[in-house]
Amino acid sequence: MRFLVLSVLVGLLVKVSTLVAYLEEDENVMILTKKNEYKLSLGLKDENRLDLLNAIYNPASNKFLSTVFSQYKGNVLELGCGTGIISRIIAEKIYPYKVVATDISRKQIQVAKGKGSIPANLEFYVANARDVLSQGKLYDIIYVRFVLVHLNQLHDVLALIKTSLTKNGIIIIEDVSSADSQYVEGDNILTRKLLDIDRAQWQELFPKEKIAECLDQLGFEIVKEESFHPELKTSEERKLLTWGLESAKDSLITMKLVSEEDIDEAIDSAKKLELDHARKVFYYKMFQLVMQKK
Ligand SMILES: C[S@@+](CC[C@H](N)C(=O)[O-])C[C@H]1O[C@@H](n2cnc3c(N)ncnc32)[C@H](O)[C@@H]1O
Repeated sequence: MRFLVLSVLVGLLVKVSTLVAYLEEDENVMILTKKNEYKLSLGLKDENRLDLLNAIYNPASNKFLSTVFSQYKGNVLELGCGTGIISRIIAEKIYPYKVVATDISRKQIQVAKGKGSIPANLEFYVANARDVLSQGKLYDIIYVRFVLVHLNQLHDVLALIKTSLTKNGIIIIEDVSSADSQYVEGDNILTRKLLDIDRAQWQELFPKEKIAECLDQLGFEIVKEESFHPELKTSEERKLLTWGLESAKDSLITMKLVSEEDIDEAIDSAKKLELDHARKVFYYKMFQLVMQKK
């Protein structure tokens, strides 16, 4: 009898947590999950935003990855692959080696799979980065772009990455150098607001130095480093500012991290900037790092 009650309770619990996960994914906002971890859910707007991010950063990533893969080859694990555009580029460059591309969001993986026929050496999976890295499988190359800022307990994740790499394995990280690399020339007020919202959103600002320092402590050394700082020139590209703020708005207000008035003002200014080409807008500088076990 006790066993029966326990089974029913466990079953209910699983159903409720699955439902919560689905509800979270249906929200068109960036949310803080119950595990205290940021997760980007994917509404139509987020999909457009990720496509635009890809259009802006991919040429630089493409160039960087070409030089890296001319030197290093092997099976690749990608964490937080999003809509999988880079996963496909990697699969083409690294062929015949395999690429396992993973993301915590079911919807992202659904979109990734739907972006055309999937190359034979590429597989997409829904998975939390920590779980993938705890499976005991080894990879020659682990690639993470714009993901590490989403994960808390960075040191633990990087330590897991180390245990998932083969002897001469490498980690390739592309991520945001620092939040203050996003600015509007000649508009200190909006620049300050964007920075304040980033601080509220991320608490710890983008941790390039911290990532490199952690990996150094774990016995990695830098074998290649570059960076790319995009300017948002067209009205379309400038939508990134507006969409980013809109996407974070609800969860930031719910968590009382910014006032509705402040974020609405920032969204208004960002919308005006889409048409005001007198001012230069710089989006986040991306660092590109390859580190190898010493
Ligand atoms: C900004 S997007 C970057 C997507 C892709 N790497 C790119 O560069 O286009 C961050 C991705 O990380 C995923 N993500 C966040 N936390 C994660 C976790 N704990 N495990 C796996 N993926 C995660 C999100 O679902 C999202 O797709």
